[in-house]
Amino acid sequence: MSSLRTFSPCSLCAIAIVLSSSLHLVASVCRESDKAALLRIKSSLGYSSRMATWNNSTDCCYYWYGVGCDNPTSTGKVIFLWITESNTSGPLPSCIGDLPDLTHLEIANHPNLTGPIPKSITKLRNLDYLAITGTALSGKIQRFLCKMTNISTLDLSNNSLSGKIPGCFKGRVHVINLSQNRLSGHLPASLFKSYMGTDISFNVRGNQLSGKIPQSFKTINFLDLDLSDNQFHGDASVVFGESKVADYILLSNNKFDFDLSSLTYPLYMSWLNISHNKIRGSINPQITKLQRVGGMDMSYNRLCGPVPSGMSAYDKSVFAHNKCLCGNPLPPCDS
Ligand SMILES: *[C@@H]1O[C@H](CO)[C@@H](O)[C@H](O)[C@H]1NC(C)=O
Ligand SMILES: *[C@@H]1O[C@H](CO)[C@@H](O)[C@H](O)[C@H]1NC(C)=O
Ligand SMILES: *[C@@H]1O[C@H](CO)[C@@H](O)[C@H](O)[C@H]1NC(C)=O
Ligand SMILES: *[C@@H]1O[C@H](CO)[C@@H](O)[C@H](O)[C@H]1NC(C)=O
Ligand SMILES: *[C@@H]1O[C@H](CO)[C@@H](O)[C@H](O)[C@H]1NC(C)=O
Ligand SMILES: *[C@@H]1O[C@H](CO)[C@@H](O)[C@H](O)[C@H]1NC(C)=O
Ligand SMILES: *[C@@H]1O[C@H](CO)[C@@H](O)[C@H](O)[C@H]1NC(C)=O
Ligand SMILES: *[C@@H]1O[C@H](CO)[C@@H](O)[C@H](O)[C@H]1NC(C)=O
Repeated sequence: MSSLRTFSPCSLCAIAIVLSSSLHLVASVCRESDKAALLRIKSSLGYSSRMATWNNSTDCCYYWYGVGCDNPTSTGKVIFLWITESNTSGPLPSCIGDLPDLTHLEIANHPNLTGPIPKSITKLRNLDYLAITGTALSGKIQRFLCKMTNISTLDLSNNSLSGKIPGCFKGRVHVINLSQNRLSGHLPASLFKSYMGTDISFNVRGNQLSGKIPQSFKTINFLDLDLSDNQFHGDASVVFGESKVADYILLSNNKFDFDLSSLTYPLYMSWLNISHNKIRGSINPQITKLQRVGGMDMSYNRLCGPVPSGMSAYDKSVFAHNKCLCGNPLPPCDS
């Protein structure tokens, strides 16, 4: 026999009132259509302890891990989504495109997530930040991503993406991280062409990219540039220059072959790694004007001539395995 039968209809009302008033402060504001989309995403993604809080009976704006709303006291539109660490072994569900007001989407560490980036993602027209990292997603970086013109950060690092980097990115995008994939081909000359800011970050470390650095990179003011661990060759001098804003310039482990003698270094550069290339010439003493060097590595190249006198405090490994560099911290130059 149900114990509810012992309550009169009125005491049930009272309970309902007490319940609703105690819940009043956190009245459900999560937009129903967003909640339904999130529950569809959860059921497609399989098990993740992080999504255990995604329960239909609670408010997604307050209680769901990795979910954020614009103004939870009124509209309850989901604008922020961070999904991490599931053991899903299927594709990224296309219902990921069913959150129309999303501005920030981060999908991280799903090592068994496979298949392509779904085209439905382009429905997220307000997206500003897109990160899909640490998955086994494969296939090309399709041109449809370029239609998402509100994106400022595109992080597709640490997946299994292949093919060329499309040249169609324009608009606001200025942080692009494609490191640790299987990308090949040349860098498109049109990259960052229409972006005038000085906060450009470009990371393609650990791919199979080849060819030369486009001449158009001369006018780009990179803040962080990481081209390490690829097959680039030729001249990379266009990314240097005293007037540039660069903080990091990382070119190691390529086949760059150019003369370093006359180029100058961005004054606020904190990290320079040009090791494991075929770079020639001598080190311009302008390098001793740098304001805040954190790390430097010029080893395994074909450099020659005296180490500038202001660099004697560096470890000799910074200059090791070159053709004929000499002087403190290396052995003295023959006079
Ligand atoms: C994922 O992990 C959960 C909990 O450990 C387990 O119950 C489930 O079977 C796993 N699913 C797959 C597809 O491995
Ligand atoms: C959702 O929460 C309710 C109430 O706390 C609970 O009874 C139910 O088991 C939960 N559902 C899931 C799928 O965890
Ligand atoms: C969530 O709850 C609503 C209202 O209680 C219901 O209509 C809907 O079917 C539920 N969704 C799921 C996936 O259980
Ligand atoms: C991914 O799949 C492999 C092979 O099926 C399995 O051994 C591993 O536990 C899975 N990883 C996760 C995080 O689910
Ligand atoms: C792009 O974002 C801005 C706010 O940053 C917003 O006002 C605008 O509507 C968005 N554009 C599109 C196409 O959604
Ligand atoms: C790349 O992704 C794998 C799988 O999710 C993760 O274990 C690894 O830590 C990630 N590597 C980096 C550099 O983030
Ligand atoms: C780019 O991706 C790699 C690998 O996921 C990560 O270690 C790095 O912090 C990311 N960010 C930038 C700015 O390169
Ligand atoms: C420079 O890059 C090489 C090759 O990728 C790496 O072994 C070395 O540790 C890096 N040096 C510094 C100072 O980070």
